[in-house]
Amino acid sequence: MQPQNIETLRWRNGELEMIDQRILPAKFEYISYHSATEVATGIKSMVVRGAPAIGCAAAYGIALEALNLSTTPKEQFTLALSQAFKILQTSRPTAVNLSWALQRMQSVWDDADSYANAEIAQRLLTEAHAITAEDISINKTLGMHGAALLADGARVLTHCNAGALATAGHGTALGVFRSAVAMGKRIFVFADETRPFLQGARLTAWEMLQENIPVTLITDNMAGYIMSRGEIDAVVVGTDRVAANGDVANKIGTYMVAVLAQHHNIPFYVACPLSTIDLSMSNGAEIPIEERAATEVTGFNDCQWAPDGVAVRNPAFDITPAQLVTGLITEKGVIQQPNQEKLIKLFDNS
Ligand code: MRU
Repeated sequence: MQPQNIETLRWRNGELEMIDQRILPAKFEYISYHSATEVATGIKSMVVRGAPAIGCAAAYGIALEALNLSTTPKEQFTLALSQAFKILQTSRPTAVNLSWALQRMQSVWDDADSYANAEIAQRLLTEAHAITAEDISINKTLGMHGAALLADGARVLTHCNAGALATAGHGTALGVFRSAVAMGKRIFVFADETRPFLQGARLTAWEMLQENIPVTLITDNMAGYIMSRGEIDAVVVGTDRVAANGDVANKIGTYMVAVLAQHHNIPFYVACPLSTIDLSMSNGAEIPIEERAATEVTGFNDCQWAPDGVAVRNPAFDITPAQLVTGLITEKGVIQQPNQEKLIKLFDNS
């Protein structure tokens, strides 16, 4: 089945269904989830990935658990639901959207604590739906702000997948391209393959092809050459966490692209919903970087190409210093040359 509108996660008949992103683009299949532990396994194993999508999945994981516990005694409900929060919280470390979404779920629980379990569960489910719906509308607003930065005919490079598959829908970086196309602009996307998990080759290329947005796939080590030929007008990537000083954590290889972009005088934009900004971390060095299995580097799926016993590093994310970021594209507009003062002001509602 080829979807018109990609629904990364959806609520169907009291269950959470998530597209199995590990097998895309060869197969398009949903997996059903019934508990917080199952959802945490789905996040860990990369069935669902991408910062905002992980946050939405975790919120539904809490709702599922609360619904399962609806008829249990209060004490057991409290114990088991607290445990569900812990399990989901530790499923992946880098994307701050996970703890951001869990905090929203926690405050709904805190406010409803005196109610019957079934009522708490319903309120948690309503909040999970709200987080998911808000994510799509935020991405559309952010997309419009970002689209205004791109000229008609722009050739844009992106790294990893910050698309509908990485969010509840529309996407952040790919949302900028979608919005630009919706405005009538011609956009030509270059997708970095994104070793080792191949989110660019498997997911970004697939997403763009679904909507007939022209996309050219390159391996990560081709970006410098293509830029040096004058074939890239802008870089737009997503992010997993932005520190208070504007340092950006994103998929491993993003830093390399940012350095190349600066060398070639190409603007480097980061599509960043406010839920991805973490003012509690003063700079990028404080952001936890996930180290993943060596087998992702020594091969892919059943195919191993590196010799047994070789030492391997597999950091899944890197930090791009704020100085290399031309602008953060948020739902509140574009923050040119981000720094601590500008980011704090973003959250100032007065
Ligand atoms: O390891 P992943 O696939 O979860 O990493 C995803 C990314 O790095 C994305 O660029 C980021 O989460 C932004 S998604 C809108």
